[in-house]
Amino acid sequence: MSDSAKLIIDGKEHLFPIVKGTQGERAIDITGLREQAGLITLDTSLGNTGSCLSRITYIDGEKGILLYRGYPIEELAEKSTFVETAYLLIHGELPAKDELSVFSNRLNESSLIHEDMRHFFVAFPKYAHPMGILATMVASLSTFYPVPDIMDPDAEEQFMANLISQVRTVAAFSYKKSIGEPTVYPSFKLRYVENFLNMMFSSPVKDYRQDPDIVRAVELFLILHADHEQNCSASTVRLVGSSLSNIYSVISAGISALWGPRHGGANQEVIHMLEHILATGADPKGFINRAKNKTSKERLMGFGHRVYKSFDPRAKILKQACHKLLNKPGVSNPLFDIALKIEELALKDEYFVERNLYPNVDFYSGLILKAVGIPYDMFTVLFAIGRVPGWLAQWREMVHTASFKIVRPRQVYIGQSKRHYEPIDKRISRKQG
Ligand code: ACO
Repeated sequence: MSDSAKLIIDGKEHLFPIVKGTQGERAIDITGLREQAGLITLDTSLGNTGSCLSRITYIDGEKGILLYRGYPIEELAEKSTFVETAYLLIHGELPAKDELSVFSNRLNESSLIHEDMRHFFVAFPKYAHPMGILATMVASLSTFYPVPDIMDPDAEEQFMANLISQVRTVAAFSYKKSIGEPTVYPSFKLRYVENFLNMMFSSPVKDYRQDPDIVRAVELFLILHADHEQNCSASTVRLVGSSLSNIYSVISAGISALWGPRHGGANQEVIHMLEHILATGADPKGFINRAKNKTSKERLMGFGHRVYKSFDPRAKILKQACHKLLNKPGVSNPLFDIALKIEELALKDEYFVERNLYPNVDFYSGLILKAVGIPYDMFTVLFAIGRVPGWLAQWREMVHTASFKIVRPRQVYIGQSKRHYEPIDKRISRKQG
């Protein structure tokens, strides 16, 4: 196989190197294209563009494979914890006992936010979306925890711990604000997930009893969401980070990107759809038909993926977890039944089959969160908590790459050619008629 690609432009041949990944993917390195041939490439939603070389996460969208640092997601989901997976993503290897203990302790010691930041919560309107609060609060961490200009490894470990730990504290505080209860401080006695659940659900008049199945379900949710290579929010993190902007603003930008319904916001939309069907007795087929209708602009939420053209492995794991958690005695699951029905119908429907549209991670994740007692508005916040280690790993990999530069795509201009300014009394209103 050739190690270079030949491009013929205006009769002249140009050779470009072919870069190979460890799993056999091949990419044409066109870095020199503009210099050599005066052309750029056009790939408007970057579906065919590799924006970096990365050692963090590998996806094979055709085969439904997802690896974090080489480890299959199925093994991590079964055997690892969120904190251990966070260490793996950031540092590249699973931690030894002492390394994990240092990392965990640092997270625990970093979990309080500056006391003055608690006053911010008072100023947000009661109906404020927690993702808006999270993005704002994470950006404002930069004012309380300035990042040194020249990074030393210990400072880097510290601000990464701040982010992983404090994002969870901010999330729980924003929930408490929304229900008008006093905030509950993190406890040094509790582990990462238990601590979050305690901050969310205990109050001065009610202890929260930890259920190991619920703790494991949240742990699983966070592990499955911890990274997903160059998706919209990770690319945002790399783009904003490439200007060497403050790390807290960088992660805040990632949170904003995640918020959209075509990205992390879809899990909330899935539950809305399932609840609507349950409440109205609507035929699930109606949703499928509306999603197929190009004039309606509606989509079947939780279906389809830019990279996965077969089952999203995370959706498979979450579906199994739903079976386990929702079949517990005393836990009702009519929404899960509707979800299973929709999946069955869609996977038999020609429209979805032809386009390789399968359930993605968001299709079943909302059901897990609902069973845990997480309110809908917080679903994407939970996704963000899980994704912070991945964003940090992506950012860290980029800034520690010797050749890294500010990201600056080009464009093909299709606007007006040069023209001259007209005085206002000579302009014709375009609103007439
Ligand atoms: N329902 C109905 N039709 C769909 C859906 C869907 N969920 N997803 C894609 N399609 C159709 C498109 O209309 C298009 O049809 P066409 O070829 O006839 O025009 C075709 O499938 C390809 O769709 P694209 O939009 O080109 O696919 P893309 O890779 O850009 O989009 C995306 C991926 C955004 C995830 C899309 O599938 C979608 O909107 N899904 C619903 C939202 C969702 O679940 N998002 C969560 C994604 S996972 C995550 O971010 C964590």
